[in-house]
Amino acid sequence: MARRRQIYEGKAKVLFEGPEPGTIVQYFKDDATAFNAEKTGTITGKGVLNNRITEYVFTKLADLGIPTHFIRRLNMREQLCRQCEIVPLEVVVRNIATGSLVKRLGIEDGTRLPRSIVEYYYKDDALGDPLVSEEHVTAFGWANPMELEEMTGMALRINDFLSGLFAAIGIQLVDFKLEFGRVYDQDQMRLVLADEFSPDNCRLWDAETGEKMDKDRFRQDLGGVGEAYQEVARRLGIEPEG
Ligand code: C5P
Repeated sequence: MARRRQIYEGKAKVLFEGPEPGTIVQYFKDDATAFNAEKTGTITGKGVLNNRITEYVFTKLADLGIPTHFIRRLNMREQLCRQCEIVPLEVVVRNIATGSLVKRLGIEDGTRLPRSIVEYYYKDDALGDPLVSEEHVTAFGWANPMELEEMTGMALRINDFLSGLFAAIGIQLVDFKLEFGRVYDQDQMRLVLADEFSPDNCRLWDAETGEKMDKDRFRQDLGGVGEAYQEVARRLGIEPEG
């Protein structure tokens, strides 16, 4: 088979041209970065697990009626996706205060928020992905008001659904980051959920022990990163490939 042409290399994934027009192949690496790439490392097997966990979550979300870019998993590290134009925003949903929220506002780590909070960050590595308001998003044209409302609505539905899904396997969904993209069908634009959903971009705490089961183990040098991702996959019922 002809070698795929690389379109983009990110911190944890590589995107290749897909086999048909309008498709891409998303390859999951074992590389990990934190603090805007100031800290780097490798977590053996992470790419394989994140590929499977993303497949699992995106398939469940599609069943729920959330449009996604995911088409199908191709192999251990690759999935076929619809090509889309990425909205330059990171949409973060928070249920429990931790991470940058705690640093910014001085709220006690672990406080359950009075309601789920949605935040927007402008995707720009050089600026360190700054927090922005709805006003910034629409004034600078990163998304129009209708798109912003649609992404926020989807993010909250995803939060409701995934909070329940994780609660059922003894895990608290603390917060997570989503990215959306625009696809064009017969000149009609639609928003789809893009990128990935994995322990790299969410926080998952064991409901009984409070133990961290996500990338914070890497960020905070807690050890057992691969084991934690494996345990998330195991509880979701994802069988290791033979
Ligand atoms: O660091 P912060 O508390 O703002 O992160 C909120 C959530 O968004 C976390 O689950 C984190 O893993 C995710 N995130 C991400 N990519 C970023 C920033 C945050 O996946 N660039």
